[in-house]
Amino acid sequence: MPRKLAAGNWKMNGLAAALAELDTIAAGSGAEDGPEVAICPPFTLVAAAAQRAKGGLLVGGQDCHAERAGAHTGDVSAAMLADAGARLVILGHSERRQDHGETDADVAAKTRAAWDAGLRVILCVGETLADREAGRALEVVRAQLAGSVLDGASDETLVVAYEPVWAIGTGRVAEPPQIAEMHDALRAALVDRFGKATAGAIPLLYGGSVKAANAAEIFGIENVDGALVGGASLSAGDFLPIVEALG
Ligand code: G3P
Repeated sequence: MPRKLAAGNWKMNGLAAALAELDTIAAGSGAEDGPEVAICPPFTLVAAAAQRAKGGLLVGGQDCHAERAGAHTGDVSAAMLADAGARLVILGHSERRQDHGETDADVAAKTRAAWDAGLRVILCVGETLADREAGRALEVVRAQLAGSVLDGASDETLVVAYEPVWAIGTGRVAEPPQIAEMHDALRAALVDRFGKATAGAIPLLYGGSVKAANAAEIFGIENVDGALVGGASLSAGDFLPIVEALG
């Protein structure tokens, strides 16, 4: 069984004062037999967050460059994230794919850089509404997974997050059968590629308008090992009930 993980993606939100929320999240999520808990703040807060994260709370980045260093104004490397205390990095988020034209090949190259820096990757995949309405959801997500995941992946290096683009920040959650179908397909694709033992330990997260009110139902679906949470991870009061639901 994969270890459960509740990860918060703060996206482009959070000034220094937001670190107080992180303290409360850390204090409320330290149980040894509980799920892993991670917060991925904006780059500007990663070092400070890592320094004050207590009780096993993990800190991650939201993206990294594919190179270790160089002439890339405004970019941040995986080595820099690791140096700042990050243990994880989100890669291939649909907002990066849409806003920055990231391809599966880009995500694969960033994954290599993240692994070289010792970071665990939360790889995001997910179809658009147009893909789903055209009956292409499974095909699109399988292709993203095949194109972004590198050989040698294991539960120590990879988490996969299924985030249907139409459910992100919209308040519209995928229906349980839609989540179940996609998570089963993701698990099957990982088993084909890495074998049952390795693939069975890689956590599969659902992301898209997860909140306290729907978390328990989502976590009851087979092959859902946790959540990647956007808006509801910004405050401890919203996020900790989701961590508790994952139990
Ligand atoms: O990465 C998390 C995400 O995209 C979901 O965001 O705000 O719908 O929970 P939200």
